[in-house]
Amino acid sequence: MDLAELQQIAQKERANSKPVRVRCCMAAGCLSSGAVAVKESLEKTTAKAGLTDKVEIRGVGCMGLCCQGPLVQVDSPEVQDFAPLLYEKVTLENTSSIVAEINGDEVKIQRGDLNQPFFTKQLPIVLENSGKIDPECIESYIAADGYQALYQVLREMTPAKVVHNITRSGLRGRGGGGYPTGVKWATVAKAKGERKFVICNADEGDPGAFMDRSVLESDPHRVLEGMAIAAYAIGANQGYIYIRAEYPIAINRLQIAIRQAQRLGLLGSNIFDSHFDFKIDIRIGAGAYVCGEETALMASIEGKRGTPRPRPPYPAESGLWGFPTLINNVETYANVPWIIRKGADVFASIGTEKSKGTKVFALAGKIQNTGIIEVPMGTTLRQIVEEMGGGIPDGGTAKAVQTGGPSGGCIPASAFDTPVDYESLSQLGSIMGSGGMIVMDETTNMVDVARFFMEFCMDESCGKCIPCRVGTVQLYQLLTKIRKGKASLTDLELLEELCDMVKHTSLCGLGQSAPNPVFSTLRYFRDEYLALIAPANLIKDKKL
Ligand SMILES: Cc1cc2nc3c(=O)[nH]c(=O)nc-3n(C[C@H](O)[C@H](O)[C@H](O)COP(=O)(O)O)c2cc1C
Ligand code: SF4
Ligand code: FES
Repeated sequence: MDLAELQQIAQKERANSKPVRVRCCMAAGCLSSGAVAVKESLEKTTAKAGLTDKVEIRGVGCMGLCCQGPLVQVDSPEVQDFAPLLYEKVTLENTSSIVAEINGDEVKIQRGDLNQPFFTKQLPIVLENSGKIDPECIESYIAADGYQALYQVLREMTPAKVVHNITRSGLRGRGGGGYPTGVKWATVAKAKGERKFVICNADEGDPGAFMDRSVLESDPHRVLEGMAIAAYAIGANQGYIYIRAEYPIAINRLQIAIRQAQRLGLLGSNIFDSHFDFKIDIRIGAGAYVCGEETALMASIEGKRGTPRPRPPYPAESGLWGFPTLINNVETYANVPWIIRKGADVFASIGTEKSKGTKVFALAGKIQNTGIIEVPMGTTLRQIVEEMGGGIPDGGTAKAVQTGGPSGGCIPASAFDTPVDYESLSQLGSIMGSGGMIVMDETTNMVDVARFFMEFCMDESCGKCIPCRVGTVQLYQLLTKIRKGKASLTDLELLEELCDMVKHTSLCGLGQSAPNPVFSTLRYFRDEYLALIAPANLIKDKKL
């Protein structure tokens, strides 16, 4: 495979496109609401209307507005003034109206609004192909400039230059910690080892998070390309994607993508006729949240029990089977081809001073528009919740937003003008996390929220170290006692003391961050805890 062949594939794919393109979302959300039947019905109706020469029906990835699925979008880029059409909650009954409308008939059918802030305020980098290309077709990805970045690095850049570019872009890890990606790549590149490995962390265990699933279901080649570029930069020949078993569609699409890339010589030996060999294998996790933690994840790939170990040594020095290993998140890799194609400086010009580029968020909870969005870093929470998310359903009022899952915190509505970036969110007592954003309205009890996340950590604790194994149980019991109105102020003091102890003495990030939802709810919603302290206990405590 060389550049001319790659361009030939792209040209052929573009030439095969028909004047009208009907794109049907085939990602998990829409599939669960009947997208397969909708697509079949559109195919049949188009054939019956004699429009198959003119109209192409395509399965694509997530279009973002998952709550309105099944979604169908109609485009005709070559026709001047043809504005794309969006159809929401498409049923078998209205597919014939969609086809009739494409055919120029006057029909009454409700359409979605592509000019609403949910779409217009997005800046797609990671999601640039989501909802546009067919994730099961490598030609579709190549026609969208896919694998050009890999060609560029293999033919025009030294590994050191690739690392330099990623460093200059300011990209930071999207898996939660926000560690500078270029610094991590440089460390693994410098590390000495007979072999090196690249791992993609697709474990995504945070409740309410589904960004990585959406990226993998919608544009799997992008992640493979990002991993291959990383492997070239650090000197690895083997990669692993660690993905949770609960994501069968993403797993299937990754398997298809790996086979297709191998067939075209874009993975395997002598990629683009260079001396670079790179193979990717999939490893499926069995559902333990802690296996998203990098050292537990590597133990799991090695076939051992997935429990964390102390760091140092960090994976960059001693990772899989003791060899230097680069581990990054799905979204981190998905940014890489864009950075190479468009330039590190273009990426660095987006976002805030210390948080560059965009962030993908999964909007969930009490919000009108649930789904997937990608916004420039620095967008405020208010813009996300009120403008893009459409606010709270039924005229309700937003109370807080939870970011960062069990390691994160609850940000009150009074702080919604905060720009979303790593530093600002941590100043508020939360974290950016991997992108789960759960919106809560005024009916939510914040002690319940803290208790929910503590129960999650208690269930998911691997039990290796005592502060987390025992501490999360004690914390959960204290929160339950408070919730039942049986606690005293002494219990509240104990809760805070124990949170502090678990945070500072646990072995891994799970235990260290398990108290965060308690800390943040105590910081902003202490009155809700106090309201639950039984009056008799207040008198007993003589604190009244
Ligand atoms: C309990 C726990 C669970 C984690 N789960 C994930 C996960 O599902 N996906 C992920 O990318 N990182 C997860 N991480 C962070 C990883 O350990 C690691 O920092 C990350 O994959 C590095 O990639 P990045 O630099 O691209 O962010 C988790 C960390 C902890 C402590
Ligand atoms: S902090 Fe919790 S999850 Fe992490 S090693 Fe200790 S017991 Fe296991
Ligand atoms: S799953 Fe169809 S729009 Fe997200």
